[in-house]
Amino acid sequence: MSATRETANLDPAAFTRWCEDQVYTPAIRRGTEILERVCDLHLLELHRELGIALMLATPRTAREVADQLGFEPSAHIALEALLTRLAERTGVVSVEQSPPAHFQARAAVPDGTAELTALRSAMVELGPGFVVALECVEFGRAHFVTALRDDPGMMDRVLSGADAEHYPLWVQATNADPMQDLHGRMGARAIAELFPGGTILEIGGGTGNGIRHLFDVLQARGTLDRIERYIFTDVSPRFILGTRRAVREAYPSVTCDWKYLDINKSFSTQGIEPESIDLIYGVNAAHVAKDMVGMLRDCGAALRPGGRVVFAERVRGRSSEMAARELTLNLSRYHRTAAQRHPAHRVAHGYLSPRCWLSGLEQAGFRDAAIFPDLEAIQRVFPEQYAAVVTGVRGCGR
Ligand SMILES: C[S@@+](CC[C@H](N)C(=O)[O-])C[C@H]1O[C@@H](n2cnc3c(N)ncnc32)[C@H](O)[C@@H]1O
Repeated sequence: MSATRETANLDPAAFTRWCEDQVYTPAIRRGTEILERVCDLHLLELHRELGIALMLATPRTAREVADQLGFEPSAHIALEALLTRLAERTGVVSVEQSPPAHFQARAAVPDGTAELTALRSAMVELGPGFVVALECVEFGRAHFVTALRDDPGMMDRVLSGADAEHYPLWVQATNADPMQDLHGRMGARAIAELFPGGTILEIGGGTGNGIRHLFDVLQARGTLDRIERYIFTDVSPRFILGTRRAVREAYPSVTCDWKYLDINKSFSTQGIEPESIDLIYGVNAAHVAKDMVGMLRDCGAALRPGGRVVFAERVRGRSSEMAARELTLNLSRYHRTAAQRHPAHRVAHGYLSPRCWLSGLEQAGFRDAAIFPDLEAIQRVFPEQYAAVVTGVRGCGR
């Protein structure tokens, strides 16, 4: 990077205050509360529709329940998440953490139809886009059996853009829902403060939440010209083409490359030269990697000395925590099974905890690993918080 550029800096306290005041607005907090309850109600309905209470008359594991339902081999991961969430948040099921965890029915499932209707109306009133979060979990409930029994590849086709019919649903789910959109807002603000200039590589850029927010924020600050070159990547040709069309229209002057890049393969064999990148960005994309430390090492190799990764990510407060949108994401075989588990840096499938992120970055040789905002401070005012920016600087030991 050029020595003449001003030093980038991010004030952690100011970032935390901004998240408290501008990101987690009253509407976002209320929307999150509604979404969590709606997810519980859908899980309860699934529990009833599938006859799980009868199966749990005596203690059973999620794998036993999945087998009895005729589900595909990895479906027990989705069922374990469902039953654990019901055990933690409703009185319908109890859990004995043996291991493996054994679940037992405790109470009848109340009828949630009227409450679901009332919550949907309340969500609509919060403003444009909020109801998209409900549509996302409704999709999961409607396709639960199909995806876990009849057509196990279905959800992976939706998430990778291979399913043309549901492409608009996924574009909406990643861009129109303000509770999801805030990941891109957080990532963009962090980069605006941490990035002095140069080349950015975005991984898993998909339907464009990351690039859209970043360009908007840099433009508003008059610093869009800090981007000398932007390399937007994903594994989905449909996503790449859709995002390219939208970005070229909105930002014709920014130099962008549009590339296929699989983060489960070596970056250098896919045209990303070693030490050629100043910042690697991802919005809810880095957690997709199968081998987290291996992927981070690849990022390190692609970065110039002093370069950094910035990942805007949903984070798990506890490893057993199931996010509401995982009612749908857990229907993806990849989401359930891809992560190579490790007790320090990959405890659960899908999303990582902040501790796992810091451990993974350290393992991969990054320095100054940090998480923004201050999650403990946010926890005190908004316990349901779920978003963070994870960053680290390429170490010199390579
Ligand atoms: C949760 S989406 C996030 C998309 C986008 N960053 C956003 O926030 O709207 C994850 C993205 O990772 C992409 N992806 C899945 N597997 C991948 C892989 N092996 N390498 C790179 N990207 C991948 C998907 O196509 C998808 O666009």
